Amino acid sequence: MGIIFNEKERIFKLDTKDTSYIMGIEGDLGHLVHIYYGKKLKGDSNPSYIPSINFSHKIWFMDGCAMEYPAGGCGDFREHCIEIRTEDGYTALEPVYVSHDIYKGKPLLPGLPATFADESCCTTLEIVMRDALAGVEAVLLYSVFEDTDAITRSVKIRNIDSRDIMLTKALSACLDITNDDYDIITLNGAWGRERSIQRQKLGYGRSGVFSERGVSGHQNHPFIALVSDNATQKTGDVYAMNFVYSGNYEAQCERTSNDMVRMVMGINPYDFAWKLSGGQEFIAPEVVMVYSAEGLGKMTRTFHDLYRNHLIRGRYKDIKRPILINNWEATYFDFDTDKLLAIAKEAKKHGIEMLVVDDGWFGNRFDDNRALGDWVVNEEKIKGGLKYLVDEVNKLGMKFGMWFEPEMVCPDSDLYRAHPDWAFHVPNREGARARNQMVLDMTRKEVRDYIFDSMAKVLNSANVEYIKWDMNRALTDVASLSLPADRQGEIYHRYMLAVYELQERIVQEFPHILLENCSSGGGRYDPGMLYYSPQIWCSDNADAIDRLSIQEGTALIYPLSTMGAHVTDCPNHSVGRTTPFETRGIVALAGTFGYELDVTKIDEKEREQISEQTKMFHKYNDLVRNGDYYRLASYSLNHRYDCYMVVSKDKKEALVTYVQARTVAAMPDPVIKLDGLSEDISYYVDELERTIPGDVLMNMGLFVKYEHGDYKARLYHLTAR
Ligand code: DGJ
Repeated sequence: MGIIFNEKERIFKLDTKDTSYIMGIEGDLGHLVHIYYGKKLKGDSNPSYIPSINFSHKIWFMDGCAMEYPAGGCGDFREHCIEIRTEDGYTALEPVYVSHDIYKGKPLLPGLPATFADESCCTTLEIVMRDALAGVEAVLLYSVFEDTDAITRSVKIRNIDSRDIMLTKALSACLDITNDDYDIITLNGAWGRERSIQRQKLGYGRSGVFSERGVSGHQNHPFIALVSDNATQKTGDVYAMNFVYSGNYEAQCERTSNDMVRMVMGINPYDFAWKLSGGQEFIAPEVVMVYSAEGLGKMTRTFHDLYRNHLIRGRYKDIKRPILINNWEATYFDFDTDKLLAIAKEAKKHGIEMLVVDDGWFGNRFDDNRALGDWVVNEEKIKGGLKYLVDEVNKLGMKFGMWFEPEMVCPDSDLYRAHPDWAFHVPNREGARARNQMVLDMTRKEVRDYIFDSMAKVLNSANVEYIKWDMNRALTDVASLSLPADRQGEIYHRYMLAVYELQERIVQEFPHILLENCSSGGGRYDPGMLYYSPQIWCSDNADAIDRLSIQEGTALIYPLSTMGAHVTDCPNHSVGRTTPFETRGIVALAGTFGYELDVTKIDEKEREQISEQTKMFHKYNDLVRNGDYYRLASYSLNHRYDCYMVVSKDKKEALVTYVQARTVAAMPDPVIKLDGLSEDISYYVDELERTIPGDVLMNMGLFVKYEHGDYKARLYHLTAR
């Protein structure tokens, strides 16, 4: 396992547990070409199996070559990874191999979120590529995880000349392979229906997803996968990329006329131009690449393990999160200390462990038209002050958490009146005022310091143990009055670096605080954010049925331990549907679990169920958080029912979650073939009060009782006998 370099043949072979990735240095010029990515190849790389590459591009072009890090302007007409403009205005670039280094461990990417690993489980390869004429070096970083079938990539781009260059494109990864009737899978959606799985045939031309909103977004997701057209959860080839970044991105597959496929991922070149003076370096964020020869299920479990073990940090990384009750859907802006304490008291009786006060506790915030930026407690609402409220909540034996939207300012706020230049805007242009708010120019240090200081003051004034960090509008009118004209193209990325810096300051200064990211629901749910917060609010739409596809798409990549999921009141505030309280609890069990309703007002019978649900959470959460996830049936595909299961790593326990979303007449009861169990173990299935061998459950299946009526849900708990 690890990385080897075959000096004679000038070939690199990168091995994870089950995969190999091979590339070579080609010809006198030293182009770096891609040779293979797939199922693990035994032994050393054997050059006789490597197709010879016709590299006569000086008389022809490079379109037919599989390149590792293609550049623009020298005859590779596919999507490039790197583009520059020199002071003379030239754009042609052709970096070639210069040297490399292989070492144990994995370097941090300064200022950026990234997976981490120590020397015992990771090896890194750095390849220096250079275009001496343009004065540019690209250092390609590949890290190989020994315990997970993932390879991460990023790139450091250096100006080795004395003159400035403008970096106009800096993607992080490229994979060139031959087409094999691939489908392409992306995650798409909108507010309230984030990350719905879309699968389509990869046709000729370019297909993919992107964001130009300054956030990863509700609409598309920084994930892309190429899969064999017959790939299932258990079979087929899958090549996936996921971007550890939360701002503008592009993820693209290009099928060319000669039936090659290029897959790329990185920062979106839209409005990107980074000025590099002599000796300066730009770091492109990390891409995680996963190959699975065993379908989508294995890809999912690889991402889950990688993120749980090598991305998520902090005190709550491996432990159960407190069951929270959030007052947003309970009260919206209409609350005060008495109302909050009444909710907390009732919630405590039923096993809820933390009260979270959402939007509206600060400044003049009686509605969403004003006050963002004024992070001072509104004592008209929080009568007696924050410390009093938190102490009272603590006296009940509950934790306390609160909401912030640190990156924003409302034009009607003391902050804006004092510093109108702190908001992004183009002078004399009437900018967008989505939700009556503007985006703060986080690229300015004084802005970051103001936010940090005002948050810290609140957080230090009482025993706050949780923050919900919200972000409710995309970036527009992106212009900074503190940057010169030739650096305005740096703002989108500088903005992300600033958000990361601020979140890092918060988690370092307040390590006991559980941070949950949020962006109008799940509009910034990405691996970049997971580096700072172990959980992210998945969607504002908590309808138990709509959540089936939202959570299925989210769990395609992200561990269940990260998915913010709450039981809310009905009719559901987003879609107006009424579902049984029991079903809402079972659906929320797939995530971090909590409530978002006025527990003092809901129906008595429903309130009583909360005690059962909180017990259920404690019974199953260790398994749900740490287990292996298997997708068994998809409501978005079959339009009838949804089913997934989680199996403990030792295979001695499993939990099957079945939701019957729509009843269909004259259909037999579903028989669902379970997965991931041991064939050598028999399992006691408590709902059936029977012990059934693992091979029977996996091959014959679990007979699920179909009930009359929609929206029914059931759990099947399996324990080894
Ligand atoms: C959007 C979030 O997704 C909601 O949960 C809530 O916090 C509101 N913002 C508050 O403005």
